[in-house]
This record gives sequence, structure tokens and C-alpha cells, in this order.
Amino acid sequence: MKITVIGAGYVGLVTAACFAELGNEVICVEKVSSKLEKLCRGISPIYEPGLDEMLQRNIQRGRISFTDRIEEGVAFSDVIFICVGTPQSDTGKADLSQVEKASRQIAINMDRYKLIIEKSTVPVNTHKWVKRTVERYAKKSVEFDVASNPEFLREGSAIYDFMNPDRIVVGVESEKAKEIFKELYKPFTEKGYPLLITTPQAAELIKHASNSFLAMKISYINMVADLCEKVGADINEVADGMGYDKRIGRAFLNAGLGYGGSCFPKDVKAFIRIAEEHGVDFSLLTEVEKINRKRREKLIELVENTLWINKEKNIGIWGLSFKPDTDDIREAPSIDIIKALSKARANLRLYDPKAMENYMQIFPPSENLKYVSDKYEAVRDADILIVITEWKEFKEVDFERVKSLMRLPIIVDGRNIYDPYQIRKMGFEYYSIGRP
Ligand SMILES: NC(=O)c1ccc[n+]([C@@H]2O[C@H](COP(=O)([O-])OP(=O)(O)OC[C@H]3O[C@@H](n4cnc5c(N)ncnc54)[C@H](O)[C@@H]3O)[C@@H](O)[C@H]2O)c1
Repeated sequence: MKITVIGAGYVGLVTAACFAELGNEVICVEKVSSKLEKLCRGISPIYEPGLDEMLQRNIQRGRISFTDRIEEGVAFSDVIFICVGTPQSDTGKADLSQVEKASRQIAINMDRYKLIIEKSTVPVNTHKWVKRTVERYAKKSVEFDVASNPEFLREGSAIYDFMNPDRIVVGVESEKAKEIFKELYKPFTEKGYPLLITTPQAAELIKHASNSFLAMKISYINMVADLCEKVGADINEVADGMGYDKRIGRAFLNAGLGYGGSCFPKDVKAFIRIAEEHGVDFSLLTEVEKINRKRREKLIELVENTLWINKEKNIGIWGLSFKPDTDDIREAPSIDIIKALSKARANLRLYDPKAMENYMQIFPPSENLKYVSDKYEAVRDADILIVITEWKEFKEVDFERVKSLMRLPIIVDGRNIYDPYQIRKMGFEYYSIGRP
């Protein structure tokens, strides 16, 4: 099939590359010229394992191309995925201006049937606004459908997730749209992946409700971790015991610094707001947010309680991205932590395998904040090491070397990646979350 994707970010680019990999012809419209220039050379502007190779393969096969000309994208196919950003606005509502603009651009340029698909995460009933906008701005009277097809991929394993979905959700209002989706997702349904066909409003709700539920699991286990600390239980044992229950599951029960990233924080907020607008009091989620915010403060307190005074202390930081295997730092817990430690005038040495370039945009290097090129350099002369993101390379460490480089052998592990017994046996003073 021929497919158009608007927006070449984490979702759009992965969607475009994967559909091309499956044999479709795809055009991807991206408005930012620096991104477009890279894409045309087969280089992904974002870090996502396997994406560069997939892009290059499909550019060579002539199955994927990139443009900044929306009219070219709209003319190219009848199936258009909107994959633009839906960030949080000042009020906490989703800022849908990019979706609105893409809808107008499609309307102005369409001259035959189009299936317009919201893949971006949007509040319930956004499809109605998209439909109204397309009707208002269309220059010609042409038939079209608006559908919702939310994306559930995770950054860091986005290609795997796209190709091996737990479920595909499509919210449609017409038979024609339903048939197009069935054809489009045939390579998936043939392999047995479930295709769930719903109304557009149910599909929109499924995405927000799923993300908010996962965020709730994280906040829940973090509260249990706090209780574990008080009573001398190990949160990992508790989470394992809970996770074996099929009704609960072990995923998203890792205590630590809480959730961050470009999705959970804004989606939980947007879900609370949309519930409010419809007179539904979803204060359960307000608590989820509150608990999550406090995780970052808790880590700062832990560091303070360990060092007494943070000022002039040398602090090594491992991990800046909001989670491993991504360079995405949006709403990363590290941001609040680095802000607080900088304010306290500590000397910071930061290391992350992929996210440092992005990080320098918010925290430029300075006398008290230095970026280093490997994890061992980060702990040189350090009074304390803080682990913020659980990258694999932080699990495989020469601890003797770390100890010999540090001024004091103290580790605060915000992600519970080390065995407390082993690490203390090696002579470290070690603090983690919810473990005795
Ligand atoms: N990142 C994730 O893990 C993830 C997962 C599932 C769903 N989502 C949702 O998918 C949506 C996109 O997220 P993302 O992380 O890919 O965002 P992103 O900011 O990385 O990418 C959006 C891209 O769209 C481009 N764009 C915006 N308007 C455009 C226009 N009119 N024409 C051409 N290009 C345009 C931007 O320049 C940008 O490159 C959001 O709604 C998000 O909530 C994200």
C-alpha cells in the first residue's frame, strides 16, 4: 500500500520505517529542516536501536522517502498517519495545535478520498475536531474518514514493539476505513496479533487509560517501597511476589525514581483534565502524579542525608535519559535532580551513553557541571555516585576500579540495579530504594 506519515519523530519515523520494511511505499513529511536533511541521508535524528539500518535498507529499496512539502505527502497516498507532537500545555491539557495544523494542511491539499489517522496520543473526541477542521478547510468536496489508531511502542524497543504489538487498536466510523485497516495490518493479523476494532472515542480512551494505568502501577509500587523501608522488607521480593499473580503481572513494578519521558507525565495530566472537563473526578490520578513528583525529592533528601552538605561535593552521575536505550530526556527524573544539586552548588560530572548531546541543550557545561566520555571518568574523585538511569552498561561495572577512583565509596542507586549485599561486601556505603 501507499502510506503517508506526517511527523518524523519517535512514533512517525518508526511507523514509516516499519511499514516500509513490510513492503509498503511510504512518504514521510517532516517540517524541521535539520531532521529532514539527516533523514534524506538515511540517518535517524533520534537514537532508536536498529532504526538507522532499517531506514537505509528501505531507502535503497526505494520504499521510503522524505519531504517537507505537505502537498507532496497528501497527494502521494490515501492513507495518512498524523504522528505529530501533542505536548502538555500550560494548563496541563494536551496542546493539540500540531494536530490541528496537520488537519488543515491535509484538508487544503486533498483532492480525492483520504483516510486520516490519528496516531498521536490525543484526548477523547479529538477525532470530532479533526473531522470538523477538515470539513471547514477542504477546498474541494471530497469524501474522507477520520480514524484513531493509537501507538503503544516504547522508546528503546520501538521497532520490536511496532512489529510485535500486544494489540492493534483502530477506532473507525465507516466500513471503508475498517477495510483499509484490515488490509494495512494484514501482515500482523496473519501472524495472530489481535486487531481490535472500536469506535474512535474508545480507541482514543484506550491509549490514555493504558498509559495512566501503567503510571499508577509505578506510583503504587513506589509507595509500597516507602513502607518496605520503614518495616525492613525488600521491595524486590514484594514486587516479585505480587508479579507472579497473573492478574497483576511483574512489569511496571520496579520501585525507584518514578516515571518520566515524553508520554506518561503529559498523558496522565491530559487524562485528568479531560475527565474534569466531563465532570468526572479522577483524583486517583492526581495522587499518582503527586507520588511521582516526590520520588525525585526523595532522592535529593537521600543524598543530603548521606553527605550532610551537598555544596562543594563531587558528585558522579550515571544516566540522564528518562529510561535506558533512548536519548530522550523529556521530563526525565534526572532534570529535577541535576537542577537541585546544581542549586546546592555541588560539582557534577555527568555521563550517559546516548543522551548527553540533548542534555547540553538544557544544562550547558560549566565550571561545576562537566560532561565526561565514560562512566569511570564520572566517578573520578567523587564523594558519591548517583545512578539515575538503569542502562545496561551500569550493570556491568568493574567496582574495584570505581572504588579506586572515588574519593569516598558511596553509591546512591535510584533504580535498584545492584545487589545490596554484594556491593556492601566490596566496601561501598550503598543506598537504594525500598530495600533494607
Ligand atoms: N515517543 C513515544 O514513545 C510515544 C509512544 C506512543 C505514542 N506517542 C505519541 O505520539 C505522538 C508523537 O510523539 P513523538 O515522541 O514521536 O513526538 P516528536 O516530537 O518526537 O515528533 C513529532 C514530529 O512531528 C513533526 N511535525 C509536527 N508538525 C508537523 C507538520 N505539520 N508537518 C511535518 N512535520 C511535523 C515535528 O517536527 C517532530 O519531528 C505524541 O502524541 C506522543 O504522545 C509517543
